Amino acid sequence: MTVQQQIQTLEDLGGASALIRRSWLENKDQTLDYNAAFLASSYAYPGTDLELSPAIYDDRRNLIAFVSAFPRRVVWNGQFLRLALLTFFTVAPEAKGRGLGKAVWAECLERARGGGYDGAIHYCVVGNKSNFVTVAAARSIGLTSERVFTIKYLMRPLKAPELASESADAAGAEILFRELAAELPSKARLCRSWSEDEIHWNCSVRYGGITEVHPSGRGLLTAYVLNTANTPPVGCLFIEDLLWDDLTADERAKLFKRMLDRAGAKAQIAVAPLWGYSDTEPFVKAGFRRSTRAMHMYLTLWNRHGLNSSPLPMYIDVY
Ligand SMILES: CC(C)(COP(=O)(O)OP(=O)(O)OC[C@H]1O[C@@H](n2cnc3c(N)ncnc32)[C@H](O)[C@@H]1OP(=O)(O)O)[C@@H](O)C(=O)NCCC(=O)NCCS
Repeated sequence: MTVQQQIQTLEDLGGASALIRRSWLENKDQTLDYNAAFLASSYAYPGTDLELSPAIYDDRRNLIAFVSAFPRRVVWNGQFLRLALLTFFTVAPEAKGRGLGKAVWAECLERARGGGYDGAIHYCVVGNKSNFVTVAAARSIGLTSERVFTIKYLMRPLKAPELASESADAAGAEILFRELAAELPSKARLCRSWSEDEIHWNCSVRYGGITEVHPSGRGLLTAYVLNTANTPPVGCLFIEDLLWDDLTADERAKLFKRMLDRAGAKAQIAVAPLWGYSDTEPFVKAGFRRSTRAMHMYLTLWNRHGLNSSPLPMYIDVY
């Protein structure tokens, strides 16, 4: 099967969002409200190319299968790698099991390879069929998708705050983010690398984004809020960048509390992936517990098989 189309315009994202909802609600695990505004914010990520969103439409121009890829840059063993982050992998319920998923996935990898990327990264919920389909799709075009890590999570319920704190000064936060993120390659073996535009997206543009800066200017946290797709929706705070290693334990705890208080106005649960690049003691002290949620992470590199050693600790995002 050949996939010759792609998500054509950002207006198609309403259809993509509706398809995700219809298809993912069939999964037994919890799914999120990937609404059109969230998808539009994802597509606003600097350097995103619609060509990397191969899609299949039926005869009546209804979207029935697609996957999206977004750029990520990492440093691994002192080398810059451009990775395509494949996500939102979806096939319409009535079209599942006919090879469409495998076809769009393989096409996306081909397009990324042709587009100058060094490889791809993706995540699958443990137990989800996509673990098989994505690996099989890569194999069908002579590539190896290697499972490099299984991400565990910490979780905690949130309470609505009595007082909402003020939001961070966006420009100041971005400058601080750049400085603190520049320290991470010494702590993480596989480490995300940021351009100015990407930092701006992360701190100031992304859907549901929250950036919390410590008043000392030596620590910063980011997160975003997204609801679950079920009814009634549950607001989830996904904690992202932990740039707080220069703070004392007490300062970290205070910064963390401010973020959780602020998020409590919009979210009922906080979720944090465990990457190992930063201190998670504040999570334990704040009452976070291990969740049963787990996500497999895969790397597909065109020019070599695997990383040859563990990429941990890692600093990247789950998307
Ligand atoms: C995941 C999803 C996109 C897969 O799409 P699909 O079109 O149903 O999958 P396909 O029919 O293309 O899969 C076919 C290939 O997967 C592999 N495969 C599928 N199920 C498998 C299994 N149980 N064991 C081993 N391989 C399996 C096979 O290699 C098969 O190809 P082959 O018959 O040529 O060998 C689709 O089920 C979906 O939309 N699910 C809901 C959304 C979702 O969960 N997305 C992923 C989030 S992590």
